[in-house]
Amino acid sequence: MNIYREFAYIYMKGDYPRFSERMATLLPAILTKFGTEARTVLDLACGEGSFAVAMAGRGYAVTGVDNSADMLRLAREKAAEAGRRIEFIEQDMRVLSFEDRFDLATCWFDSLNYLLETDDILACYSCVHRALKPGGLFVFDMNTVYGLGVLWQKRPCEVCQDTDEFFEVHRKSYDYESNIAEMRITGFIRMNETWMRVDEEHRERGYTLGEIHSNLRSSGFEVLATWDNPEEMTEPKPGSGRVWVVARKPAKGGPA
Ligand SMILES: C[S@@+](CC[C@H](N)C(=O)[O-])C[C@H]1O[C@@H](n2cnc3c(N)ncnc32)[C@H](O)[C@@H]1O
Repeated sequence: MNIYREFAYIYMKGDYPRFSERMATLLPAILTKFGTEARTVLDLACGEGSFAVAMAGRGYAVTGVDNSADMLRLAREKAAEAGRRIEFIEQDMRVLSFEDRFDLATCWFDSLNYLLETDDILACYSCVHRALKPGGLFVFDMNTVYGLGVLWQKRPCEVCQDTDEFFEVHRKSYDYESNIAEMRITGFIRMNETWMRVDEEHRERGYTLGEIHSNLRSSGFEVLATWDNPEEMTEPKPGSGRVWVVARKPAKGGPA
């Protein structure tokens, strides 16, 4: 089943874009902490473009990549409305086509959890490594195994939006052998006097911190930091539902 089709519109209208807008405000402190002056940014799984537009507004040259044509259409509209020149490309994040081009790569709001096999994650990390300039940073978040397997399952059926325009329900389950969470989204969009129903099945895999780190290292990255709170930059705990990771492509001549 293809995802982020009609749901792209519900996503854009909901609170979801606040996550990456928050990351746009936090990034300067993260870059300063690691002594990086980024100008060029690759945003993987850029979605409906909120982060890209916020970063372009702060003077960064941004390229956004996503494999949903519907999300990208919304992203292009958002950039045009804001008067920002941003390159948006329809591409799978496992097969990126860039080489030594970006100072910073980002990937927000569970997007890497959508890669369900270790080979998918390794392919993505390797593409990001190739796309970054030496010394470039890769900063992203991921849901943890605990987040998907325990915290998500505390609300197996949840109404996420209930407004005059939208109604949205998530039904969740978790497979403890594969570490894959399934979320069935049913949304209704008001169309004047009637409602249009939208159904999608999203699947996210939980990776342990050990897996995340070893996959990054085997793709050529140094792991600089892992936090459970990007404002306070605090260490993850066993009950952390999400982690933020900072990794670096070693500078030329630096450690591999
Ligand atoms: C939860 S949304 C996050 C969007 C955006 N990063 C944000 O913070 O709002 C997940 C995004 O990942 C994208 N995505 C999932 N798998 C992908 C893949 N293999 N390649 C590129 N994009 C992908 C989806 O199309 C969707 O836009």
